[in-house]
Amino acid sequence: MSIDVKPYSDSDKSRKEQITEMFDSIAPSYDFLNHFLSLGIDILWRRKAIRMLKMQSPERVLDIATGTGDFAIEAMRMKPKEVIGLDISPGMLEVGRAKMKKKGLENLIRMELGESEKLPYPEAFADAITVGFGARNFENLEKGLSEMHRVLKPGGRAVILEPSFPRSFPMKQLFGFYFQYVLPLLGRLFSKDSHAYTYLPASVAAFPEGKDFLEICRQAGFQKTSWHPLTFGICALYLLEK
Ligand SMILES: C[S@@+](CC[C@H](N)C(=O)[O-])C[C@H]1O[C@@H](n2cnc3c(N)ncnc32)[C@H](O)[C@@H]1O
Repeated sequence: MSIDVKPYSDSDKSRKEQITEMFDSIAPSYDFLNHFLSLGIDILWRRKAIRMLKMQSPERVLDIATGTGDFAIEAMRMKPKEVIGLDISPGMLEVGRAKMKKKGLENLIRMELGESEKLPYPEAFADAITVGFGARNFENLEKGLSEMHRVLKPGGRAVILEPSFPRSFPMKQLFGFYFQYVLPLLGRLFSKDSHAYTYLPASVAAFPEGKDFLEICRQAGFQKTSWHPLTFGICALYLLEK
């Protein structure tokens, strides 16, 4: 399954190429906008997700769709021996590498170019996997999830964060208005890419949520799965175990 929403409707390029281009273009403003548009709550979501992995004391953590590496940095709280951040966008990785250097983390967090559907790692490579706001962009969701299952150690855990639409009044209406109108406007004002923050609500709407998403995870091989709505349901945390 792939989400049939592309950032640039007037372009002939494939979805994967368009997504890479979009993230390359918003990379310089991504961190600022991400924290600004979520009022900093995204940091708390990543922290909560990491707490679900911490009891297993993973030594090697793989952060897929790492972008500028915020989840990889958060994973350092578990004191792993190494963290690998993988992403398809050279622009996001460049910003991420500069951030790691500034924080003195460049020897602990490796930022690598690659794609979720073809992870360049052997079976049972990682003790834990994180994916923050990236699964929605995968070219092929099932393939990306099967690859995660392949490279995860037996008994290991993966956490996935994705934005989601709240279902009850008044958050449903408030968030709907913010997501459909305010966020694209702010995104247009502050980032160089006018399409990126229109693509965001469209891709969230097209992405399978809750039990539907867990079913796809089970088909990819994950036996134990659970779903945790965060902050009135505006974010979904999925916990998967191999
Ligand atoms: C919204 S950003 C999330 C970045 C980071 N994980 C975070 O929590 O802020 C999504 C990232 O997914 C990456 N991405 C999209 N499709 C991908 C794929 N097929 N394989 C690997 N990374 C991908 C993009 O380049 C982008 O950096």
